[in-house]
Amino acid sequence: MKVVLTGANGGVGRIVQQLAPVQNQMELTPYSRYELNILDKQALMDCVLSLKPDYLINTAAFTHVDQAEKEPGAAFLLNADCLEGMTEACGKAGTTLIHLSTDYVFDGTKRTPYTEDDLPAPVNTYGASKRAGELIVLSYPRGIVVRTSWVYSRHSRNFLAAIPGLLRTQSEPLYVDTLQTNSPTYAHDLVNGLFALIGAKVHYGLFHFTNTGGGCTRYAFACRIREMILRNDPKASPALVLPMYTEVPGGAPRPVYTVMNPEKMAQLTGIVIPHWQEGIENII
Ligand SMILES: NC(=O)c1ccc[n+]([C@@H]2O[C@H](COP(=O)([O-])OP(=O)(O)OC[C@H]3O[C@@H](n4cnc5c(N)ncnc54)[C@H](OP(=O)(O)O)[C@@H]3O)[C@@H](O)[C@H]2O)c1
Repeated sequence: MKVVLTGANGGVGRIVQQLAPVQNQMELTPYSRYELNILDKQALMDCVLSLKPDYLINTAAFTHVDQAEKEPGAAFLLNADCLEGMTEACGKAGTTLIHLSTDYVFDGTKRTPYTEDDLPAPVNTYGASKRAGELIVLSYPRGIVVRTSWVYSRHSRNFLAAIPGLLRTQSEPLYVDTLQTNSPTYAHDLVNGLFALIGAKVHYGLFHFTNTGGGCTRYAFACRIREMILRNDPKASPALVLPMYTEVPGGAPRPVYTVMNPEKMAQLTGIVIPHWQEGIENII
């Protein structure tokens, strides 16, 4: 199975590269932004037509949620417009496109997990640009969109991944947001889910993939990490975790509840998706 990866140096891209070699008969060709700029339509076309991959996994994106408010043109260009060229190239080569999207396509007004049948209504530019991208990919007959949220691994450069280090090194309490409830997703579980779609020869559809367990706030996530640090080493003295109820000033609006239900993907591929607390074991 030939697979091309774009955005190879990103948080998810790095884990795709890490796990692909242990996949049975998967030949992965990864491209960082500098090796293949997805805004370059001709470069995309040349790459896909020369390799004729079975699947292209696109993890390249404009992912800075607050910056997207200031640079909507750049966000839409990368998260949506350039996907026209990507689907065109994939169409010429008979390649199935697996594209990642986000829980931020929802407005967060539900209080039960979002399914693939729920209507998107983004509240910020990042979410709107990702939704526009979804529609382009889903209009391609070999287009797969996988929505995920709060992706982390030991190597991520985000707050969730930083919590264990902060708790171990900080003497003052760590204040953590309680406003948003989302589904944390351990990056390795997500990538195994993407590979399961490939293994099951899925070629079209919209799917949710997150860890199970009904989601949590960042505060609950940090509390659980603290408990695990103490469970592993009862003599440790991690910083206290305290709830923070205020939004970061000047940031993009964010949906308050975007837990997603990954059941459709689990049923189709037969994978058992771990609880979010299991993923934490890998980063403490
Ligand atoms: N991480 C999350 O919590 C999360 C949640 C929901 C959805 N998602 C979605 O999951 C996908 C992967 O996210 P991630 O966390 O891996 O994001 P990331 O760490 O920000 O990685 C994105 C990658 O895209 C690359 N890129 C930017 N512009 C490009 C271009 N013109 N051509 C080619 N590559 C380009 C970046 O290159 P540089 O390394 O050079 O900057 C970066 O490596 C995205 O679609 C994102 O929307 C992520």
